Amino acid sequence: MLDTASNRPELPPEIARRRTFAIISHPDAGKTTLTEKFLLYGGAIQMAGQVRAKGEARRTRSDFMKMEQDRGISVSASAMSFDFKTFRFNLVDTPGHSDFSEDTYRTLTAVDAAVMVIDGAKGVESQTQKLFEVCRLRDLPILTFCNKMDRESRDTFEIIDEIQENLAIDVTPASWPIGVGRDFLGCYDLLRDRLELMDRADRNKVAESIAIEGLDDPKLAEHVPAHLLEQLKEEVEMARELLPTLDPQAVLEGHMTPIWFGSAINSFGVKELMDGIGTYGPEPQPQSATPRQISPDETKVSGFVFKVQANMDPKHRDRVAFLRLASGHFTRGMKLTHVRTRKPMAVSNPVLFLAADRELAEEAWAGDIIGIPNHGQLRIGDTLTEGETLKVTGIPSFAPELLQTVRAGDPLKAKHLEKALMQFAEEGAAKVFKPMIGSGFIVGVVGALQFEVLGSRIELEYGLPVRFEASQFTSARWVHGPKDAVEKLVNANKQHMAADNDGDVVYLTRLQWDIDRIVRDYPDVTLSATKEMM
Ligand code: G4P
Repeated sequence: MLDTASNRPELPPEIARRRTFAIISHPDAGKTTLTEKFLLYGGAIQMAGQVRAKGEARRTRSDFMKMEQDRGISVSASAMSFDFKTFRFNLVDTPGHSDFSEDTYRTLTAVDAAVMVIDGAKGVESQTQKLFEVCRLRDLPILTFCNKMDRESRDTFEIIDEIQENLAIDVTPASWPIGVGRDFLGCYDLLRDRLELMDRADRNKVAESIAIEGLDDPKLAEHVPAHLLEQLKEEVEMARELLPTLDPQAVLEGHMTPIWFGSAINSFGVKELMDGIGTYGPEPQPQSATPRQISPDETKVSGFVFKVQANMDPKHRDRVAFLRLASGHFTRGMKLTHVRTRKPMAVSNPVLFLAADRELAEEAWAGDIIGIPNHGQLRIGDTLTEGETLKVTGIPSFAPELLQTVRAGDPLKAKHLEKALMQFAEEGAAKVFKPMIGSGFIVGVVGALQFEVLGSRIELEYGLPVRFEASQFTSARWVHGPKDAVEKLVNANKQHMAADNDGDVVYLTRLQWDIDRIVRDYPDVTLSATKEMM
């Protein structure tokens, strides 16, 4: 049977009920608060405030997080699973700071949809726009939550216009706010004809929901003062005339975003958004891979690693690889094939991330995220299958935008430094290049803050003080081409050449001019700014 929304075969119910998504937002728009309310309604936590509290407990486990705490940014990404009504939500947290955009990009390869949170007073901010563009590259469906409606916010039409203009996506209101700022009463639910009234006295109380038979229902006047009711009727009439109506297929294709208005801190509008994710959000989607696409309903299990987090527990030096299941029904203890090395791998201690706790995963389905503790075998981009040679594609590694030379504070510890750097490189926290000439390593990052995080982690987790020094190079390009052409380039440009942490040949550049020269002088080789993770 075909499901009407996507014209794909209907998925088994356990898979069809999964919604795997990320929240994208500009820092301070309310992502953490919204996440917390999701977990609260998902029954994963009992009380608001636990995400931060648990977050702190986690921070003590890994001390580098002190920096995260000080700066109020979220450096690490994690996954959280919880049930809501008939749905299983898998929420993958994205680091909010722009310096970690590469990590964010990879995280977004593991989800099927994104919830975009914007601040009602600020509209579309720079980081929202950037993250949105990444989602667009993959045509990810986007559901929008306009937060902080309890405060002075912009005019509703203005907010919707700004999203349509700046992000070039159709916006359809799922709810309509009644009053602004101190006069904000709640919303009219346009999809279900209900009046949702916010309770200002109790932040954790779910809004009162009143069934209404259209905007002419006299019941409305019992709850909404006359001047606000008049305004509501006028605005909704205008919205229905001027704005597109909800088209579920357009939402799934990423051309239209429904918008809910609410206040995360007041628990207002959150359940409606969650209902929306369930109803309009996509089921687990097919995964692009070579030599063939993977469909979630295949009975055989497959999945790919989109994130590796090392030293979650410094005492055990463990690493957790985050695996997005692309197909099948996984059960604990299963033997999977690690496609890159062709080695079998018994997955005996998989972890499900329920709120901020870890729990053994007895089973998982396509769409779920599981954590696999390992000693470094699993790298970002790795595919696991039940034997078939499949390689999930589309998980890139970006050329760094900032390069620095790193040296051990104690020169005798150079070997230790190499080991630590390689671990961080595998985790995706930085690119590490070993120049062909000279000693030391060159570390490349996308944002400057990553240097600080790296220096601090090497010191805390490996007891190695390090120094970063300016490098003459500003970027790096991976070199591809026939062996003899590459050798010719390497031999004539040794001072520019390095190997990355996988041993691949890299050309270090100072200026765009360097790249232009290579392109001109070596027509048989290509320089690329991204590399598919192998
Ligand atoms: P982020 O993860 O996107 O960075 O945002 P976060 O949830 O941390 O929220 C940023 C600030 O906005 C917090 O205030 C939070 O309490 C506040 N906030 C979130 N949702 C709402 C809302 O619906 N209405 C209003 N008025 N404020 C909201 P803070 O002072 O920075 O932190 P805190 O002292 O409250 O923890």
